[in-house]
Amino acid sequence: MCELYILFWYFVMMQRIVVLSGAGISAESGVSTFRDNDGLWENHKVEDVATPRAWEVNKELVLDFYNQRRKQLLDVKPNKGHQALVKLEEQFNVEIITQNVDDLHERAGSSNVLHLHGELKKVRSTIDPSLVYKMEGWELKMGDNCPRGEQLRPHIVWFGEEVPNILLAAELLRSADCLIIVGTSLNVYPAAGLIHELKPNSPIYLVDPNEVNTGIAEGIRIIQAKASEGLTRLVNQLLEKNKK
Ligand code: APR
Repeated sequence: MCELYILFWYFVMMQRIVVLSGAGISAESGVSTFRDNDGLWENHKVEDVATPRAWEVNKELVLDFYNQRRKQLLDVKPNKGHQALVKLEEQFNVEIITQNVDDLHERAGSSNVLHLHGELKKVRSTIDPSLVYKMEGWELKMGDNCPRGEQLRPHIVWFGEEVPNILLAAELLRSADCLIIVGTSLNVYPAAGLIHELKPNSPIYLVDPNEVNTGIAEGIRIIQAKASEGLTRLVNQLLEKNKK
């Protein structure tokens, strides 16, 4: 009983680290980022495949686009960046807020993952957004309907749609002791605005091989490296420092 009590307080007292991740953390697993190359996403203009208008105009194209992304998940694996964040849980209470729709954080073994922009492996009803289902295979087709008889769509937050998990994410940031930003250009709101929810003077680390405009003038510790190398280094440092 006493041991359980001590364990309980150990978890309560653990420092809370929030990680805000974006496409860059999955780049080394072979998943394309959005804005790195020619502004196209897997040869498509974002507005042709990732907006409510695109769905209205050409459902087949949108379904096919996400089917291909879902199929690609079968061929990719978490990388050392995802794995480093799992290791961080040895000594910290870690909450990951990801803009990614892949499941690589979960497959690496992270315990707490909040998806801001939806999840590739889920689909939902077009008539009732609360009807969300985990997919078995990779292919969603026209005529695949929810129990209310309406077409299912990818469970993705498209441009122009509300981000249902943003309030929860802001809450996580407000109670965090430290923030790690990795692999995001911070171009897309409201996700990019989350970093302003952090308590003043809390450390912020940013891991990215390229320059990122955070909109915060001071105090960001920049690790200019790819996620696998940068996160491994940072996590080892944080674990080492916490032991002292
Ligand atoms: N390790 C870490 N970061 C990397 C790596 C890497 N190996 N390779 C690229 N990056 C960085 C880039 O330098 C860039 O800053 O990852 C970032 C990727 O930025 P974006 O492509 O804009 O992706 P993201 O910020 O996740 O996009 C946000 O926009 O299109 C929408 O909904 C979509 O969730 C997505 C959102």
